[in-house]
Amino acid sequence: MQNFDYQTPTRLIFGKGVIAKLPNVMAQFGKKILLTYGSGSIKKIGIYQKVYDLLKGYEIIELPDIQPNPKYDPSVLDGVRLCKEHKIDVILAVGGGSVLDCSKAIAAGACYDGDPWDLISYKVKAKAALPIVDIITLAATGSEYDCGGVISRTETNDKIGYIDRHLYPVVSFLDPTYTFTVNKKQTAAGIADAMNHVMEQYFVEDATLLNDGFCESMFRSLMENGRKCLENPEDYTARAEMMLACTYGCNGILALGNSPSGWPCHGIEHALSAYYDITHGWGLAIITPRWMKHILNERTLPRFVKYGINVFGIDKNLDKWEIANKAIDETYKFFESIGIPMHLRDLGIDGSRVGEMAHHIAVNEGLDQAYAPLTEKDIAEIITTSL
Ligand code: NZQ
Ligand code: ZN
Repeated sequence: MQNFDYQTPTRLIFGKGVIAKLPNVMAQFGKKILLTYGSGSIKKIGIYQKVYDLLKGYEIIELPDIQPNPKYDPSVLDGVRLCKEHKIDVILAVGGGSVLDCSKAIAAGACYDGDPWDLISYKVKAKAALPIVDIITLAATGSEYDCGGVISRTETNDKIGYIDRHLYPVVSFLDPTYTFTVNKKQTAAGIADAMNHVMEQYFVEDATLLNDGFCESMFRSLMENGRKCLENPEDYTARAEMMLACTYGCNGILALGNSPSGWPCHGIEHALSAYYDITHGWGLAIITPRWMKHILNERTLPRFVKYGINVFGIDKNLDKWEIANKAIDETYKFFESIGIPMHLRDLGIDGSRVGEMAHHIAVNEGLDQAYAPLTEKDIAEIITTSL
């Protein structure tokens, strides 16, 4: 078991109607709020109006229109400018992972005098960030419980996971009823994203029985409850369990004491999103089974066997290679069964930029250090088989 040093400072407030606590929470941070949100789903759900009703007496400045795969320019730059101009005390992010991620970069940029890209690109380490409170409306990324934000810079095809301990939200409100309106596409993408977060932490060299059990339970919960959410979008119990599973997915708690992973599928998918602006969870679902096939060998076999038996209930008396291959096939079939198109070409990606993307990933993502190290050639092969 590896040493670790871990702290999660975020307060989680979970359940139906918990937004009633918003005034008390916001009172700790000052009177000037930057309210960040996306393209309008929060208005349709009614949270936007609710926020204004609850926060009478506050000065609220808005940053709307944050897009999926949030962009440095204009969203992060506009947000930083607004924070500085209005001397904002606290950011209230209401939306999915994109809104929250963008808000994290803004929070750090607002406390820095130079170009915020210096921080996101790790040229300069943040010394501080504005406090962030969020109301998450989509179960997927786990951004509500971690200190990372993923920001895209279109002109350089960069999509960078910016991680810094200052970026933990101080408070996250999780009301599963807010996810009732998430459509089938985004619900499926959320399931695939969260499942992949678990996979990235499960397929490692050195893992504990404790973490394996936690991860295997996460897989089963996400598949079972994810299916229920798709069948009945207003199934509170299923939405609630899915939301909590997603929240646990990305803040490292599943991997404490394990050897590092390298997060290879994320490294590859982030480049696909950067070049083609695709939905993160869909890209992951397509890449994952191909990555699994690519890394299956004598050394990795026992992990796949364990995964197959404990997650999919495959007969443990079968030949080990058969179990492993069945497990990978089951993974593919599950993603297909929840409506995800399983080829990159279905998302408008052809083979014309595979070499360029593979090179970009090999240079920037450090996947030669992953559990199953990937060279540029390996990465190109995985993308090609996913087309
Ligand atoms: O823009 P609005 O109107 O809000 O609509 C959004 C958007 O179109 C909609 N939506 C959100 N909540 C809704 C809703 N529609 C109806 N009802 C609701 N309650 O859903 C669409 C997608 O939203 P987005 O925030 O982009 O989705 P998600 O939460 O999956 O976030 C994806 C982003 O997070 C990054 C991804 O790379 C991607 O950029 N990630 C962040 C991570 C982190 N911070 O830890 C880790 C992940 O691995 C991931 O990379
Ligand atoms: Zn992800």
